[in-house]
Amino acid sequence: MTTTTTRAPVLRGPVDGPFLAPGDMAEAVTDFHRAGAAERRWDVETAVDWTAADANRLTDGQRSAVRFITLIEDHLPGYFAVYTRRFPLTDEVSEQDFAHHRELYHFTVRWAVEEDSHARALFRYQTDSGIACPDDLRRELAAEGRKPFELPHDESVALFAYALVQEKATQIYYQQLRSVVGDPVLAELLNRLSRDEARHFAFMADILERYLRVYGDAVVEPIRDVIAHFRMPLADTMRGYWRWALRIADAARYDHTDAYEHLIRIVNRAVDAPSDRVDELTRFVAACRTAAPLPLTTPAAVPPAAASA
Ligand SMILES: [Fe+2]
Ligand SMILES: [Fe+2]
Repeated sequence: MTTTTTRAPVLRGPVDGPFLAPGDMAEAVTDFHRAGAAERRWDVETAVDWTAADANRLTDGQRSAVRFITLIEDHLPGYFAVYTRRFPLTDEVSEQDFAHHRELYHFTVRWAVEEDSHARALFRYQTDSGIACPDDLRRELAAEGRKPFELPHDESVALFAYALVQEKATQIYYQQLRSVVGDPVLAELLNRLSRDEARHFAFMADILERYLRVYGDAVVEPIRDVIAHFRMPLADTMRGYWRWALRIADAARYDHTDAYEHLIRIVNRAVDAPSDRVDELTRFVAACRTAAPLPLTTPAAVPPAAASA
């Protein structure tokens, strides 16, 4: 928690399976597109009344939180590159794997469009509300944006489990922040963003459930590994990340382990008669929570580092 050093991640190649059958992936992707049907879409230009954006209505902590989440969202090219590098649509992979990756791509490009609109919307909020001027903000974003991003996992299911936690944690934070911010324009924007993150989470939850139903115990270890080593995006590369993270937690509750109860729910939903390994996984995930805001059947709070020892 005290470290402020940054280290460049090692970029990795194609992930290992097992993969879902391409038809299963296609079903999940279709459900995702259905959930984001036309009437639920929004665009940056018309979503809010930009002329009313006013950062004078925000506390210093809330301004800081907006700057932080802009940096995180703006790193989209790095996140998108993970999917193109790890699920390549080239002759590096077999035809069967290609067919799976091609179906996944129908999700990834749509997800990327939505995440990119989050970055654009937050940029626009900062400039129109008076937090930053465009050129300074572009420079600030470029300094972080050009740094590479990678996930330290080699199994495909681990990448999905990581995304599941990260999307849910982001959704929860946006909801928390929205409930306290003084500018209604920002509140409306955070509402849009959190609804998108909820759909991204739902897709990953669907994928993980399918994995657990098809592969059961065989995917327990990679999921456990994700929780044991979980870091939010850019935690290792962004300058002053931990200082920022503490500051934004002052503005609204920010704890990625809040997402863990949702992971436990998914595991329980997917597995009718949990094996010892699945049982151990849910106990482990619960133990990795730093706090339990809701009454849960979990052991007392255990810091993730201690729990993973
Ligand atoms: Fe986002
Ligand atoms: Fe998202």
